[in-house]
Amino acid sequence: MLKLENVIAGYGRTRILHGVSMNVPKGGLVALLGGNGTGKSTTLKSIVGLIAVQEGDVILDGKVINAVPAEQRVSHRLSMVPQGKEVFGAMSVEENLLMGAFHRRKDRREIAEDLESVYCRFKRLKDRRAVSAGLLSGGERQMLSIGRSLMARPSVLLLDEPSAALAPRVVEEIAEAILDLRSLGLTLLLVEQNVGMALDIADYVYVIRGGRIAYEREVGSGIAMNELQEFYLGGEKH
Ligand SMILES: Nc1ncnc2c1ncn2[C@@H]1O[C@H](COP(=O)(O)OP(=O)(O)OP(=O)(O)O)[C@@H](O)[C@H]1O
Ligand SMILES: [Mg+2]
Repeated sequence: MLKLENVIAGYGRTRILHGVSMNVPKGGLVALLGGNGTGKSTTLKSIVGLIAVQEGDVILDGKVINAVPAEQRVSHRLSMVPQGKEVFGAMSVEENLLMGAFHRRKDRREIAEDLESVYCRFKRLKDRRAVSAGLLSGGERQMLSIGRSLMARPSVLLLDEPSAALAPRVVEEIAEAILDLRSLGLTLLLVEQNVGMALDIADYVYVIRGGRIAYEREVGSGIAMNELQEFYLGGEKH
């Protein structure tokens, strides 16, 4: 479904990704783990087209999409929930959600349905639909950010550290929401630093270090937390 083949990308002349290859199968839930500054967000940005791929390919449904502009990748049903729970603080919860459907604003009936399904998934957003998004708690902002991406009706959803800076109970809620999306058939790529949460829900993990995939393994095949942490925390060469 989504594939990266030897992707080299970065900012200006600085290379950050040094040949990243990943595979996210249709309906799968794949986690990309790694420490700060290892290239996780850069990987997601190269998938959605916010930065250009210098070498290698981003492939969606068998087609190389390197040259497809970012705004058109949304219509290819690719959507990202950015890091940092970004919302439009001065706008209401509902206005924020509607922004996610901006590119298909003529489909009024579909949009109303999608709004209802987001509210059904995140009941707290429904109660607070008229509230300014800036007044929401961290967990509610994350739900809003996910909800806004869902309004684009994606088939592939990329999530950038959705559990960051949230209380354990809220992390659980987010994890459940992600599993729920998976059961609806969405294909998910989850960037995380919360190894426990990622291993709980993902079926395959990659660990990125210094812009390179340092480790990959199917979850449930007796993946050893200490083995993973060794790669995750780095230090030795492998
Ligand atoms: N806009 C930018 N311009 C230049 N360099 C950048 C830019 N964004 C990120 N970088 C650099 O690219 C490297 C990888 O950053 P990236 O954001 O991909 O890390 P990350 O794995 O997402 O880290 P974190 O977990 O802290 O979000 C870092 O060294 C960072 O300083
Ligand atoms: Mg990041």
